[in-house]
Amino acid sequence: MQPAIRSIIVTVCCVVAASAWLALAGSDQDEGEHAHEHVELAPFMTQLQWHSQKLGYAIEGHNAPLAEFYLHEVTEVLEEIKEQVPVHDKLPIADLIGKIPQPTLAPLDRQIEASNWTGASKAYAKLIDACNRCHAATQHQFIVITPARGRPPFNQVFEPQQSQRPTDSN
Ligand code: HEC
Repeated sequence: MQPAIRSIIVTVCCVVAASAWLALAGSDQDEGEHAHEHVELAPFMTQLQWHSQKLGYAIEGHNAPLAEFYLHEVTEVLEEIKEQVPVHDKLPIADLIGKIPQPTLAPLDRQIEASNWTGASKAYAKLIDACNRCHAATQHQFIVITPARGRPPFNQVFEPQQSQRPTDSN
């Protein structure tokens, strides 16, 4: 190979390697500075709506294990939002979650555990109210959530089934 060609190849390789390195370094820095801005809040909200609606149907169906399952999902999504989207549009999402919906979770859990369905319905209404209070506190008062109502729009059973009863397996 002629020295001139060799030096062109070496130069091109160096430029490619250097720009690849710069691109990587740049994206690292980007993630460090704006890590939270890349995570969207709305998909978490969709999950909250889904789980909290099913939670309502499980309470209406007097189904303690199913209600516990969905309450656990709601609790987990709230925790995940606190971690992943602590601030959104300069709004203190993590703080608001701690102040508004989280205090409603333990009382609801107690009512479900005791299978006190009147109490559970009331405690559930407080959770849904907390969704709306937080929407109001974050300039999204036009997003209004209601307790689960009417026939469930899901291909799922919300009442306890025969097979769930412990006596059945005897
Ligand atoms: C920290 C305050 C806060 C809490 C608590 C909260 N939300 Fe939201 N919610 C928001 C904000 C802010 C948005 C707008 C997100 C955006 O701009 O992308 C939103 C958007 C939504 C949306 C619109 C997105 C969609 O999928 O249609 C729904 C639905 C929703 N929330 C449901 C709920 C439900 C259900 C709860 C309670 C279990 C809840 N939210 C609790 C702040 C909150």
